[in-house]
Amino acid sequence: MRKLLPLLTTTPHAGGRSALTCRYRCGDACFHDVPNTSGNPYVGDVIAGALSRRSMVRAAAVVTVATAAGGAVLGAGAPEAHAAQAGRGHGHGGPSGRAQGARGLRFTPVAPNTADQVTVPPGYTQNVVIRWGEPILRGAPAFDPDRQTAKAQAGQFGYNNDFLSLLPLRGEPGRQVLVANHEYTDEVLMFRGYDPENPTREQVEIAWAAHGLSVVVVQEEHRSGRLTPVTRHPLNRRLTATSVFEMTGPAAGGDLLKTSADPSGRKVLGTLNNCAGGTTPWGTTLHGEENFNQYFANGSSATDKRYGIGSGPTERKWERFDKRFDAQREPNESHRFGWVVELDPYDPDSTPRKRTALGRFKHEAAQPRLTDDGRPVVYMGDDERFDYFYKFVSSKRMMKGGSRAARAHNLTLLDEGTLYVARLTGDSPAAELDGTGKLPSDGEFDGSGVWIPLATGDVSHVPGMTAEEVYVFTRLAADKVGATKMDRPEDVEPSPRTGRVYVALTNNSQRGTAGKPGADEANPRARNKHGQILELAEHWDDPAADGFAWRLFLVAGDPEDPATYFAGYPKEKVSPISCPDNVAFDPHGNLWISTDGNALGSHDGLFGVATHGERRGELKQFLTVPAGAETCGPIIQERRVLVAVQHPGEVDGASVEKPASSWPDGPGRLVRPAVVAVYRRDGRPIGV
Ligand code: FEO
Ligand code: CA
Ligand code: CA
Ligand code: CA
Repeated sequence: MRKLLPLLTTTPHAGGRSALTCRYRCGDACFHDVPNTSGNPYVGDVIAGALSRRSMVRAAAVVTVATAAGGAVLGAGAPEAHAAQAGRGHGHGGPSGRAQGARGLRFTPVAPNTADQVTVPPGYTQNVVIRWGEPILRGAPAFDPDRQTAKAQAGQFGYNNDFLSLLPLRGEPGRQVLVANHEYTDEVLMFRGYDPENPTREQVEIAWAAHGLSVVVVQEEHRSGRLTPVTRHPLNRRLTATSVFEMTGPAAGGDLLKTSADPSGRKVLGTLNNCAGGTTPWGTTLHGEENFNQYFANGSSATDKRYGIGSGPTERKWERFDKRFDAQREPNESHRFGWVVELDPYDPDSTPRKRTALGRFKHEAAQPRLTDDGRPVVYMGDDERFDYFYKFVSSKRMMKGGSRAARAHNLTLLDEGTLYVARLTGDSPAAELDGTGKLPSDGEFDGSGVWIPLATGDVSHVPGMTAEEVYVFTRLAADKVGATKMDRPEDVEPSPRTGRVYVALTNNSQRGTAGKPGADEANPRARNKHGQILELAEHWDDPAADGFAWRLFLVAGDPEDPATYFAGYPKEKVSPISCPDNVAFDPHGNLWISTDGNALGSHDGLFGVATHGERRGELKQFLTVPAGAETCGPIIQERRVLVAVQHPGEVDGASVEKPASSWPDGPGRLVRPAVVAVYRRDGRPIGV
């Protein structure tokens, strides 16, 4: 049974997060002006002035076709008549005590709660796989909170784990390669007596080393889902804010990427604010550089402004210790962040690449799939209120097999192709979209869309911008062509079963407020607190197509709130959900959603939802995370669910001396972000 939610005891910030989260994670993005002040249209408008005549004609043609054909594609998985479901077993554990649900979702849902722990369903258990500071490289010391050094941190697991990928490891049975993003640092929760106005050089250098990526081989326990790290494995690796990265693709080597330290415009130190990411079919990992703007001080240009680079000092004061973080002294250094990074975890000596063909914005994630003829398509969200959704289509085919030649070839796939941005059009009259979230008379928030090309290789499709400018200032290019302003596009995941693409739109507190775009069919709620999930079907099921059909799959919130929608599934049978962020598929084709900032008063959680069949829209909460934490990086394997518990204890007023959480090691121990594996006590598969 669904329980009433506990009342909030602290004032929530946008999306329910604490002020501390806003400060360290996003550089207080919510308190700054929305960077997108472009006058381009939103869903419902069709303004083609900025489009070339060619794309205009084609766009019009595609919209028509996509509505008919794509609508048919989407229609195929709609829920059956609700009458047929009314008498069906309750998804929340029937009278027999055996949990019902879609295959893969047969567990008793976890109720909303504020327990300072990872709460899992009855019959499930968990282990902490790896914590911030645990040594992973040869020679790295054990974690000692009072003896932290930059050198030690560079050999230890980084802070604030976000995206996770697990890759197979041939020849070593029971082992997999775990790759993790370390999005940002919470200095007040890391260092005893931290003075935000006067960070020391050592503290700053520890923070540099705590950012970036980790590669660590993990060992499965026989007959359970338990995972433990294999320290000192030759594949283990740390990449930090000072490791060497290579810029590749059409904008690499251009003047906009050159700095006094790097006249080549191809060699960058570090990756920053790696949020979500993706795993490629050729065995590499992709990592989105998200709120990179917050690390750069003294921005002044119009492009700095569009990317949210502030005009004053930064929160962490890195500019005092390395002039490259001062935009006045190194105006191009910030151009070298905000990219998608590709890492080859199987080659510990490889230099990770920043792929300029995928554009520069606040990359939340980058999730690839293949076209029928084997070309990668990568979907990407720009996580900012009123920013856009993109895709990249490679011009090259993936080579199969593990030969050296295939591997070398596949590492060039993301350097050549076309970058597109999405424009969505709704099919219901604007008068029926009143900002309350009430469904329009056709019963769905839905419509069609076009992929507007921005650049192909060295050729720009945007009037007045060179291709190099399109890649480096992608947000401005998308403004010019009339992309659709969305409610913070976060993670994206194509369904391996149906090919439909799911985009988490986390929330948008400013939708419909004075001077800001109002509600539209894809973003149907004013002051959107809880977010929605968009389902997209490519035209003719061809991921390289330039038209698509879309509809809202979920409109999140408390199911008792009439402004919520669960793909038409009976709302009394679903868990409340708020602020969807990361998404992943399980082996049964269910979508799993982790949340960031719960505006309903519960701690964040992980949910599974059926996307096809009679139970489409049945959503159940699988776990909740400790105080102040966000649920990240979900991976759903047959016998294991892996989550990254990010920023536990990140609550306003908290510090090392005054902790708000004692997870994972109990009272008196420093709160630490960590990766958790959840599995069944009886060793059987998840949710069956
Ligand atoms: Fe780092 Fe958009 O979440
Ligand atoms: Ca409609
Ligand atoms: Ca995220
Ligand atoms: Ca994902």
